[in-house]
Amino acid sequence: MKILDQPESDSVPASAISYAGIIEKIEILRSTLRWTSRLERPEIEKLLRQASALRDEVMQLSHKERFVQAAASEPKRELSAAARRQALIERSFVFEGTFGDNPKLLEALEIAEKAAPTDLPVLIDGESGTGKELMAKVIHANGSRADKPYISVNCGAIPDNLLESELFGHRRGAFTGATNDRKGKFESAHTGTIFLDEIGELPLSGQVKLLRVLEAHEIQRVGSDEPIAVDTRIVAATNRNLRRFCDEGRFREDLYYRLSVIHVTLPALRERRDEIPLLLAYFGDEAAATLKRRPVKMSPRLRDFLRHYEYPGNIRELRNVVYRLACLAGEMADIEHLPLDIRPKSSLSLAIGGASASGDGIATASSLSEAKRVASDEAERAFLERGLQEVGGTVAELARRYEMNRSHLQMLLKKHGLHSKDFRLAAQKARDARSTD
Ligand SMILES: Nc1ncnc2c1ncn2[C@@H]1O[C@H](COP(=O)(O)OP(=O)(O)OP(=O)(O)O)[C@@H](O)[C@H]1O
Ligand SMILES: [Mg+2]
Repeated sequence: MKILDQPESDSVPASAISYAGIIEKIEILRSTLRWTSRLERPEIEKLLRQASALRDEVMQLSHKERFVQAAASEPKRELSAAARRQALIERSFVFEGTFGDNPKLLEALEIAEKAAPTDLPVLIDGESGTGKELMAKVIHANGSRADKPYISVNCGAIPDNLLESELFGHRRGAFTGATNDRKGKFESAHTGTIFLDEIGELPLSGQVKLLRVLEAHEIQRVGSDEPIAVDTRIVAATNRNLRRFCDEGRFREDLYYRLSVIHVTLPALRERRDEIPLLLAYFGDEAAATLKRRPVKMSPRLRDFLRHYEYPGNIRELRNVVYRLACLAGEMADIEHLPLDIRPKSSLSLAIGGASASGDGIATASSLSEAKRVASDEAERAFLERGLQEVGGTVAELARRYEMNRSHLQMLLKKHGLHSKDFRLAAQKARDARSTD
C-alpha cells in the first residue's frame, strides 16, 4: 500500500505540480484500491485525504497551467492592451458590450474565450456590479450553444420551499398550489446555458440537489420518479468568497469544485481607475442616446470627484451615476447633481455659503450614516431655501440659475415641504413694504 506510506502535505506549491506527477499518484491510489480486500476506517480516511489533495492539485493545474500560465506563455502576452482587444475582435469574439482594456478584464475575457466552446462549468466571482452577469452572457454568446436558451436563475431570490420546483419543475398535484405540470429552469435550459446567479446564497439543501444534477445530468420534477435527461452548460456567479464559505461549512466543497473547473475573477473598478474617464465617456454617450439628448458636460470638480470616488457598487454604480447626471443636469453637470449619499460634504457647505448643517437632527442621530444623511438633508434644504429667497420664489429662475432640471427641483422642494408660493408672497410683501416706506 505504497500511497498510504506517502507523507501527506497540506498544500503543494503550484510550481511542483505536473500532470505526470498527478497521474502517477492516481495510478498508485487505483492499484491500492484494486488490490485491497479490506480497509480499516483510519486507512479509508487517509485515502480520502490523499484523494482530496490530488483533486486540489488537478484544480490548481486546471486554473493555473491550462489557462493562466498557458496564456502567459503565448506571445500575445507581450502585446499592449489595445492589441489584445484587437486580437479578440479579429477572432470574432462577442463582447456583448463589455467595455475596457484593463489587463485583468482582458485576462478574464481571454479565459472566457477559451472556456466558451467547452462545456466546462465556469464560476465567475467579483464584487457587486463588476459585470458577472455580463460575463456569463459573453461565455454563452461565444460558445456553441449561443443560439440555444440562456436561462438565468437568481439563487438568492427563491424561497427555500420553492427552490426545488423552480429549478427542476413539478408534477400537477405535487403540492398545494401545483395545479399544472410545470417545467423547471434546468429543463428550460436544456441544450443551452443555465446561469446560476448568487450561488453563494443557495441553501445547503439546494446545494445537495444541484450536485446530484451535475453528477447525473438528469433531474426529477417534484412529485415524479421519472428521470429527465438535461444537457445544460453551467455558469455560476457569486460576490462571496466561496472558498471561505467552504471552510465555514456554508458551502459544499464538492459542489464548489464541480462549479469552479474554470474560475474567472472580475476586477473591482478601483483596480482599474485609469479607465474611469473612458467609462464616463462611454456611458455618457450611451445615456445621451437612450435619453435622446446631447451628451452632458461635466464641471472640472465633478470630473475630479468621479475620478477619485471609491465606487463600492463598481461599474453599475458608475453607470447609474452617469445616467442620473444625464437626466438631471442641463448642459453642464456639477457636484449638486450627484446622489445625496455620495455627494462630498465640503461641497454642500460651499454650496450653502458656509452655513453649517448642525440642526437638532444631527444631535439626535443614532449613527454616523444617519448623521451624514441628516446633515446632507439639512444642507439641501438650506440651499433651496436661500435660492428661493434670492429668486423671489420663481422655480424656473432657480432651475436656470443652478442648471438644475426643473422637475427634479420641484421634487426636491416637495420633499422638504417648501412651497414656492410662500416665497413669492414673502417677496411681494417685502416689495410692498419698500414701496410704502
Ligand atoms: N466591462 C463592462 N463594460 C460595460 N458595461 C459593464 C461592464 N461591466 C459591467 N457593466 C454594466 O454594469 C452593470 C452591472 O453589471 P452586472 O449586472 O453584470 O454586474 P454583477 O457583477 O452581476 O452585479 P451584482 O453582483 O450586483 O449582481 C450592467 O449594466 C452591465 O451592463
Ligand atoms: Mg449579477
